[in-house]
Amino acid sequence: MVEEKRTIRLKVFRFNPVVDSEPRYETYETSWLPSLTVSMALDQINRDHRANIAFRKGCREATCGACCITVDGFPELACRGIVKDGDFIDPIQGFEVIKDLVVDRTKSTSDAFRKIKYGREGQPIGFVPAKAEEIEVSRKLTICIDCHGCNSICPPMLYTSEKFIGPMYMLNIVRSMFNPLEDYDRVTQAVDVGLYNCTLCRHCTIVCPKNIDVADGIILARRRAVEKGIISDGVKEVFENITKTDSFSGVSVDERASWAKGLNLPKKGDILLFASCHYTATEETRNILKVATVILQSLGLDVAYLHEEEPCCGAPLYLYGYEKEFGEKARKTKETLDKQGVDEILTLSPICTYAFRELYPKYAKNFDLNVKTFIEVFAEKLKAGDVKLNSVGKKAVVYHDSSHLAKFLGIVDEPRQILGSIPGVKTVEPRYYHGINAISDGYMAADKDVGLEIAKKRLEQLLDTGVNTVVTTGASDLEWLRKAAQSLGRKDVEVIDLIELIGRSIKEVRQNF
Ligand code: SF4
Ligand code: SF4
Ligand code: FES
Repeated sequence: MVEEKRTIRLKVFRFNPVVDSEPRYETYETSWLPSLTVSMALDQINRDHRANIAFRKGCREATCGACCITVDGFPELACRGIVKDGDFIDPIQGFEVIKDLVVDRTKSTSDAFRKIKYGREGQPIGFVPAKAEEIEVSRKLTICIDCHGCNSICPPMLYTSEKFIGPMYMLNIVRSMFNPLEDYDRVTQAVDVGLYNCTLCRHCTIVCPKNIDVADGIILARRRAVEKGIISDGVKEVFENITKTDSFSGVSVDERASWAKGLNLPKKGDILLFASCHYTATEETRNILKVATVILQSLGLDVAYLHEEEPCCGAPLYLYGYEKEFGEKARKTKETLDKQGVDEILTLSPICTYAFRELYPKYAKNFDLNVKTFIEVFAEKLKAGDVKLNSVGKKAVVYHDSSHLAKFLGIVDEPRQILGSIPGVKTVEPRYYHGINAISDGYMAADKDVGLEIAKKRLEQLLDTGVNTVVTTGASDLEWLRKAAQSLGRKDVEVIDLIELIGRSIKEVRQNF
């Protein structure tokens, strides 16, 4: 029988700005017991090693929010988070360190509360009745314990704080917006402090120790903003693009469908390849569609394609708060798919997959099509031994999880299995945000500078591994990472779609390109 390990080692961030020029990590060994919380472990370390690590303690029962720190990249309440061997213990991100794990929250809070104006300047707007679902959301938001965990992992707040106030503070505004007793204009205020620069990455929702769905609250607030016509310019542009060109990017239908010329793809068929506005938007990504189609054909999968009739899935409408318009789009798209006799949709774009899988069944009655991503289909074929990948030479790559693929659809292992099957390819993982990152959401920020800043920070995290070939999945991630490399002047960095790499490792496909 294997002896259970009785001690663990933790790497703790140490920094005293009064005497230290640089922060450092100290490794401490401490005795382990089941359900050892971070707080308990730090107490033990201070007692046994005389380490004098500064950290906050309060209620010790997950109700005061004082103790929030970062455990292996994720915010956690120290009194509730369980530690494991090898964890990095850091202060929450985005705040000035007072000492070790204690940060100064006062500046952020007082700046934000000045903007929120609880003193209620301006004219009251009168009574606005709230819908039942809005009251329900408002009620749920009241259990926030102000721990700052969501703020510390919110990309637009961390990297462009002047353009987005942060989830914890936005939640305060949304709560008031849906409070039937509130009679001040919280919608205009929310838009002014960045309602449309939240990228809806859902990091806040994922990490909240109180299970508050902050992101859902933001979507509801956007619906209110749409009802009142208080919409930022970036969002108006996307709405007009979808209305006029049926594509979020505004690229004409002929240009979007041009990639399929000469491939003889039928319009009707059991399996429909949904090319998406994302992959059809540029010459580079349209080429990836060709590679994907040839790979599928090499696997014996003949797909149909709607050509000029392919619509935008409408996901941006939903996320920007155009709920009625999204519902109409979902129903119309279902009619188009039914007309073509489609049984299964094969997607490349993660956000379209999310829309078809999660949103369409709620908005288009009887929508029950099987929706699979290219990556899932390919991983299945690989597992079944139906395809063998050849060497592309010795190559170290760092994999960037597409936000929607990993967080919304849970597709984390499949891309790694595919990479692991290419002889000579070694996959390196970035230190943080494995499966939780935000680049592809960046395009959801109305202010495009927000998306670029997020992408630059993410690229830096990826390059910190020492590897300069980045592999990702999804046209948005690809586009933003390439823009980030350009903006950072990193000509040595190669960013490729996993589909391109698969194409290079299959002889019959490689010969075609
Ligand atoms: S919403 Fe959740 S994570 Fe954010 S401050 Fe409140 S309790 Fe903490
Ligand atoms: S969804 Fe993402 S961008 Fe929006 S508030 Fe939450 S963490 Fe910030
Ligand atoms: S000590 Fe109060 S929430 Fe952890």
